[in-house]
Amino acid sequence: MARGSMKDRPEKREGLIHRLPERGRRPEAGLARSAVDRRNPYSAPADPEALLRLILGLSTNFIVLPPDDVDDGIRDVLKAIGSFAVVDRSCVFQFRDNGNLMSRTHEWCAHGVESQMLKTPLISTASLPWFCKKIGNYEVVHVPDVTRLPAEAAVEKLVFLSQGIRSLVAVPIVSADAVIGFIGFESLRLTETFSENAIALLKVVGEIFAFALSRKQVMEALRQSESKYKVLFEHASDAIFLVKGGMFVDCNTKTLTMFGCERAQILGHSAFEFSPDVQPNGDDSRQGIMEKGELALAGKPQFFEWKYLRPDGTLFDAEVSFNRVDIGNEVFLQAIVRDITDRKQAAEKLEKTLENLRQTNAATVQVMAHVVETRDAYTAGHQRRVAGIAVAIAEEMGLSFHTIEGIRMAGVIHDIGKISIPAEILSKPGDLRKKEFELIKDHPQMGYEILKDVEFPWPIAEIVHQHHERMDGSGYPGGLSGNKILLEARIIAVSDVVEAIASHRPYRPARGIDVALSEIEANRGVLYDGDVVDACLHLFRERGYKIY
Ligand SMILES: [Fe+2]
Repeated sequence: MARGSMKDRPEKREGLIHRLPERGRRPEAGLARSAVDRRNPYSAPADPEALLRLILGLSTNFIVLPPDDVDDGIRDVLKAIGSFAVVDRSCVFQFRDNGNLMSRTHEWCAHGVESQMLKTPLISTASLPWFCKKIGNYEVVHVPDVTRLPAEAAVEKLVFLSQGIRSLVAVPIVSADAVIGFIGFESLRLTETFSENAIALLKVVGEIFAFALSRKQVMEALRQSESKYKVLFEHASDAIFLVKGGMFVDCNTKTLTMFGCERAQILGHSAFEFSPDVQPNGDDSRQGIMEKGELALAGKPQFFEWKYLRPDGTLFDAEVSFNRVDIGNEVFLQAIVRDITDRKQAAEKLEKTLENLRQTNAATVQVMAHVVETRDAYTAGHQRRVAGIAVAIAEEMGLSFHTIEGIRMAGVIHDIGKISIPAEILSKPGDLRKKEFELIKDHPQMGYEILKDVEFPWPIAEIVHQHHERMDGSGYPGGLSGNKILLEARIIAVSDVVEAIASHRPYRPARGIDVALSEIEANRGVLYDGDVVDACLHLFRERGYKIY
């Protein structure tokens, strides 16, 4: 039977009913009616062959019933079995809310019998404790005479009588070992005992319904999750596509806008068509995408940046994740692609701004160094040489490029504060008077004052401020010690001392590099940072560094 709505195709419903034996055709002779049916000659089907035909017709038709037709199918079957068993009402109740509530979901009423569907839309199972306990225990509840219900079913007696029910039988509907509801017959006009055949019919039909209802539930859950996935898929801000055997088999709307093409240009096409031959790092695109795809399919998700090529020839940068997804029995490669053009452009702009700033800073520093040079040629040369030693030590220590750049800048102007000291004091040969020395000791502070408002991407003013501090706190101007002194300042301090001792000074001749290195070695860890001293000694003694 083809799938489709029963409402659209009445002939199918008729077909289902047609095969069911009708009340008027029930064989009169040889009835195998139960002995307890005698009070009501119409209370039960009597022909085993007719019953078998009925059950067979129901089950085969239900197996092929599309989930959307299940409700109509159940109503049709209730009519068929109600008519066949000659009862006033046949109905299905289903539990919900973890069995706390139940509702009459399907019903058939004989001619002249009032429907209960709308009168009792939702019933608390707690309001029928005796009845619901039995159903919950997989028991058939057969009440031939409601007025004779036992005392423990007093509540049920009241409820049933208020609905005009004189007799009833209910059979649990069980799906996956859980009672999901019950199917029953109700008698209003007569008090009757339902035959074993009637109960057997309910049991079989209950099983058929259980199967159909659970299939419908599964289909609805699947449809819901599919529609949730579809919404996520379609409204994602990233391009999402599925790849099978290297070909695109599905993609969302964002993919089309991102790649600037129609669905037909993507689906069925090779994943390689959307990459340039070579990636910016020189890697072969085809090779790279194949390797990443294979790793992802082997269960190792891949995250990477990729250059994509649109059909119109334009390129764009993307961040990509490759994952394996299993749909049904098939395995797909799922690619999520995020266009990072804006982010890349912003980063490039920032890098340009920083580069401009670096150049501006470098120019500022050069101007400052030049100002010092025009006034005091000796200090200018000293600063340049100290910067050279400090950079070499920083490289020897493996510091970052950024930090080394800061050290170079700070080194070139570390004595800029001397600009405020009278030239004759700076170049005075011989010993300085105490007052003159005090004036010279002000230069780190003066340098700090000059530089503190200049925007650098490094703490230049602080480095300059601290370049005469010593590890044991004996330096100036702050008397800082240990790690309170910036590493850059500790490096410039050692470079400064080495250069000063090794080079010629206005007031004395050069004392040579060996004396300079002995000085820092002797005070390693006391006045000077141990690691910086080690790097400096290695630089001069092992690498043969020369001061220029
Ligand atoms: Fe200095």
